[in-house]
Amino acid sequence: MSVLESIAPGDGIVILTGAGISKESGLQTFRDPDGIWAKHRIEDVATPQAFATNPEAVLGFYNVRRSQMGDADIKPNAAHHALGRLQGFWPGGVLVVTQNIDDLHERGGSTRLIHMHGELSKTRCNACGGIVEGLGDLDPEMTCQACAAVGTLRPHVVWFGEMPLEMDRIGDALAACGLFVSIGTSGNVYPAAGFVQEARAHGARTIELNLEESLGASAFHEARYGPATEIVTGFVDELEALARAGA
Ligand code: APR
Repeated sequence: MSVLESIAPGDGIVILTGAGISKESGLQTFRDPDGIWAKHRIEDVATPQAFATNPEAVLGFYNVRRSQMGDADIKPNAAHHALGRLQGFWPGGVLVVTQNIDDLHERGGSTRLIHMHGELSKTRCNACGGIVEGLGDLDPEMTCQACAAVGTLRPHVVWFGEMPLEMDRIGDALAACGLFVSIGTSGNVYPAAGFVQEARAHGARTIELNLEESLGASAFHEARYGPATEIVTGFVDELEALARAGA
């Protein structure tokens, strides 16, 4: 039975996305065979300890990913645009919670958006907490413009062992939504991997849209598998028909 038979246009929708939604835009995922963690060790480039012991390696890793993201041919794909369109027509409201640190959801038209793992375009000072947009490449000798500390500037990205951002706001949205959609994530990393259970516990219908079964596949009421540019656009088209019928 399709989740669409159990929801109404007035129901809120929460959409969790992962690296899979950006794959067809040309950005690597993490755990696919050619993914980022096949080439780098998490403990070398994505933990506070790594930044403390080898800041050049950590800042260098994110400098490369930031320049890739800024590459002219890296653009939002049809799935990003479909979610931007959905936010425009769905009466019950749509919140996109992304694990991704790229800017493709914004460029695809999404406006109600939480980057729970931070944003590659922003830089944070470990000393004063100040956040600035668009600094470009970082190096350990840089000085924070706000507090004059040296060597404390880091990407505004959540590392392993750190708390994801805006968890209270996400928890409130999961408790209130009628539909939870998970797109392009392997279900490897908590707390995001537990959102489906949280939404179900509050009575939401849940669906997984992914290239293949995620680790949490059995927790969903429904699942559709294929490239995001196909299955996300198709699903949003069906939501549009439902919204029109309910108008
Ligand atoms: N369309 C849809 N899904 C896809 C596509 C595609 N074209 N290509 C790959 N996928 C799926 C993969 O099958 C996989 O299930 O996207 C998922 C990507 O999984 P991961 O690489 O584990 O990425 P993600 O789930 O976002 O990782 C979560 O882990 O390393 C941390 O902080 C990092 O935010 C990241 C978190």
